[in-house]
Amino acid sequence: MKDSKKILVTGGAGFIGAHTAVELIAAGFNPVIVDNLSASDHTLLNGIPKITGRPIEFIEGDCTDPVFIGNVFRQHSDISAVMHFAAFKSVGESVTQPLKYYRNNIDSLVTMLECMKASQVTDFIFSSSCTVYGQPDLIPVDEQAPFKYAESPYGATKQMGERILNDAAASGFRVVSLRYFNPIGAHPGNEIGEIPIGTPNNLVPYITQTAAGIRNSLTVFGNDYPTPDGSCLRDFIHVVDVARAHVKAVEYLSARKEEKLFEPFNLGTGIGVSVLELIRTFESVNNLKLNYTIGPRRPGDVVQVYANAEKIQRAMNWKATFSIAEALQHAWAWQKKISGIK
Ligand code: UFG
Repeated sequence: MKDSKKILVTGGAGFIGAHTAVELIAAGFNPVIVDNLSASDHTLLNGIPKITGRPIEFIEGDCTDPVFIGNVFRQHSDISAVMHFAAFKSVGESVTQPLKYYRNNIDSLVTMLECMKASQVTDFIFSSSCTVYGQPDLIPVDEQAPFKYAESPYGATKQMGERILNDAAASGFRVVSLRYFNPIGAHPGNEIGEIPIGTPNNLVPYITQTAAGIRNSLTVFGNDYPTPDGSCLRDFIHVVDVARAHVKAVEYLSARKEEKLFEPFNLGTGIGVSVLELIRTFESVNNLKLNYTIGPRRPGDVVQVYANAEKIQRAMNWKATFSIAEALQHAWAWQKKISGIK
């Protein structure tokens, strides 16, 4: 483990990476962002300094390119840990273009680990997902739950990523794998937030775009599930809480003495919220009416999943601090800003 405050943040121009860069700076770290801008532009990179009051170091390039990543480590020989957000993340696209997902998500991970090894960097935070559990037998799901057959190539890349990291850890890496539930919201200062490319797949950006008039109507995918109101149940977590957990994770790793470590943690609130409940909360906290209809179930959807988040609370003293209401206020404020709505 190297003792410096410099953290390599791959995918830092994206939604979760950019929020994490802000929290890293707030906690006294020095993030260096690497991103190929394939799923983002400079908007969030420009927003980060507006919040922190400090310039952000950004290097454009691709994590599957070992020459590029090798140069980043040479240029920044004091990098002490890597947070690896860079990955493709569209479940639907991964079904139609599986090889694109396997090539990018697996290749960038292995390339990064090889370059870390060459530079004697051991500490790694992985962006995993609750998708590794599939539909768990027990809810709230804890980290002991077995992996079910992955519903999508995207999910398979997260399962494989954890397997690769588990194996790599045995050869001298120290890894925290954060299994995200459903990150939503935007920075309370309204300088950074989510910018989906094309039609959003995820619920909250679809809701905010519908409220902004970019989409005519939201379709709720199914209201005949065996849940209290018939719609699916998820664990929605504010993106700033997600970001802060990454800061805790890097501090946790640096405090650990082991030379080899692989530890997965659920990163959720522990509260299950239904799709219909979320819509109602969005309407009431933002004082508007959302145009939505009930449609058929979306193939591949997990019926209900929310976290048992005790492990991360215990180990890192991390707890979600924002409510769903706040997350939905922040998401709407951000949507209004990027859509030019007063
Ligand atoms: N939903 C709708 N209408 C929409 C969009 C979503 O009703 O227009 C519903 C979905 O059916 C689901 C819920 O809202 O019940 C949440 O859907 P999202 O697409 O926002 O999120 P998912 O839970 O399907 O997916 C998220 C992450 C994935 C991850 C997965 C693991 O986006 O990266 O959790 O379960 F793989």
